[in-house]
Amino acid sequence: MRGMPGKIPKAFIDQVIARTDLVELIDRRVPLTRKGKEYAACCPFHEEKTPSFTVSPAKQFYHCFGCGAHGTAIGFLMEHGNLSFREAIEELAGAAGLRVPDSGAPAAPSAPGESPNELLEVVAEANRWFQAQLRAPEGREAIAYLKARGLDGRTAAEFGIGYAPPGWDNLARALGGSELRRRQLQRAGLLAQSDKTAASPSSHAGLHVADAAPQTSPGYAARVYDRFRGRVMFPIEDRRGRVVAFGGRVIGDDEPKYLNSPETPLFHKGAEVYGLHRARQAAGRAGRVLLVEGYLDVIALAQFGIDNAVATLGTATTRAHLQRLFQAAPEIVFCFDGDRAGRDAAWRAMENALPELRDGRQIGFLFLPDGEDPDSMVRAEGADGFTERAANAQPLPEFLFKTLCAQVDLKRLDGKARLVELAKPLLAQLPAGALREMMRERLAKLCELDAARLGLDQLPKSPSSLPRARQPLRRAPGGQPSPLALAVSMLLQHPQLAARVAPGNANANGRDLHDLHMPGAETLRALVEKITGDAQTTTARLLEHFRGDEKTHAYLAQLAARENHIDLDVLEKQFDDTIARLREDEVKRRRAEKIGEYQRGLPPQETGRALREIKEMFEAGA
Ligand code: UTP
Ligand code: MN
Repeated sequence: MRGMPGKIPKAFIDQVIARTDLVELIDRRVPLTRKGKEYAACCPFHEEKTPSFTVSPAKQFYHCFGCGAHGTAIGFLMEHGNLSFREAIEELAGAAGLRVPDSGAPAAPSAPGESPNELLEVVAEANRWFQAQLRAPEGREAIAYLKARGLDGRTAAEFGIGYAPPGWDNLARALGGSELRRRQLQRAGLLAQSDKTAASPSSHAGLHVADAAPQTSPGYAARVYDRFRGRVMFPIEDRRGRVVAFGGRVIGDDEPKYLNSPETPLFHKGAEVYGLHRARQAAGRAGRVLLVEGYLDVIALAQFGIDNAVATLGTATTRAHLQRLFQAAPEIVFCFDGDRAGRDAAWRAMENALPELRDGRQIGFLFLPDGEDPDSMVRAEGADGFTERAANAQPLPEFLFKTLCAQVDLKRLDGKARLVELAKPLLAQLPAGALREMMRERLAKLCELDAARLGLDQLPKSPSSLPRARQPLRRAPGGQPSPLALAVSMLLQHPQLAARVAPGNANANGRDLHDLHMPGAETLRALVEKITGDAQTTTARLLEHFRGDEKTHAYLAQLAARENHIDLDVLEKQFDDTIARLREDEVKRRRAEKIGEYQRGLPPQETGRALREIKEMFEAGA
């Protein structure tokens, strides 16, 4: 399991789990069908044709009998939604109308006033301010620029376009009224701070394009200054539609053309996709999401009614990007320039994408004529023309083989061998499935070789393409779980049993656990204690309670997934029997320990006799 326990109070996690319905949560992403008391679907974590993924409403727990994937609502969002622990909590809390307590960010606790929620508010305020500047007299130049680029007012408003006027401290003055505010603006990437040694005082006076600090910022003790100056501002929303960052474009020809917010607690370029929140619906309907390079490409396409386009933020496409995009639609079409640089970028994107190509997912490459980008293209050809191009994008397999074949001479035997060598590591990145098989056959055909002789089967699958931490349940030798494991799993699934062994319960007579010392006994006691202190506990809440302790958490998650098939009528008796067996085990264990101790203290010739004595002693009921 990834993720840190963070500083979110356990009680809050309990509350979030209590207010979440796992069946509903999963059903929205993976349609479930009812099957007795549980729900089932084909597992979203591995390829399968018959459903072995089950969701238990009673346990608030999912489990796949095929690949062993299992977990709670939090775990599901982390694995399926590729969220961090904190993001998962935030998502669930948001849906449940709860506010995550501001007690800290996942790694280091944030300074006062710098929690994600507070930063979000500051960014929202800045966003409103930028938009107001566009409409103010200062914004005239920016509006003229946008008009010249063919943007209509409706689209500009829809994308929340704003303006950061030239000058070092417009934003700092308008919104940085207090020390705290300035700190927040800085943390959110809107103000920058010069280091003392930078920039000779006079050389940058009056400039607003260079990134050096101003020599004076009257009234502001710290050398903080507006990061965005003289730029058209594009707010960047996260998947939930909250503005987390900005991209700013210069109006003239200054450098850099685009300036983006730095990485902040709210903004991670390697995961965020521009326009995704807005495009998701259209992408779902079209079954396809278009990935373009620029902000203005997304916006121009939208103006022409193509609403399923998104952009990465001046970075290469990461697997996190792809995962988010594949959640929106089963097909991604990358749009690149047709030039050398565009083809190289496409190749890198393809390499990244291979591990994500589970069956049912598709990737296409749309190469635009030289010098064109989607913005210019859609203006030249209209929506239909562009949509047609997207529909005819080159499928990934074709792009892969064409590019490789161009690098070898297939008329030569050693050229064919070279093709195999080049293709092998790429095909090995694909998840096992029909696509991989077909590409393997295609390769074989190209090389006029028997597919079986390509040696692709022996290739280890790239570790990155294997699902994380998903092994089938480990069974004790002989298929019998130990009494301890059985007791733990019964408690997880039927927490009410804890009363039978709770300390201080008169009826627990003879079944108390305090003198058990075998491995795992501590966990068993901790579990009983947690259940006793929480009247409304469920399997999911118990699991989340132990998330901070990774080993225990993993152990419990495995046991929670196990089906004990115990008749409810005999549940209590079974549990009591299990505890009784545990106690017997404890006696045996202590006996063995004693014998060991005793033996170690004796000369070798004496041990046989001593052993017999001890045995007799124990058998007599010691
Ligand atoms: P382009 O230079 O292709 O710009 O950069 P564009 O979108 O066509 O911009 P216009 O049409 O000239 O306004 C594509 C994307 O790369 C990122 C931005 O996200 C931009 O939209 N980029 C580009 C930067 O982050 N910084 C830069 O200096 C340039
Ligand atoms: Mn452009």
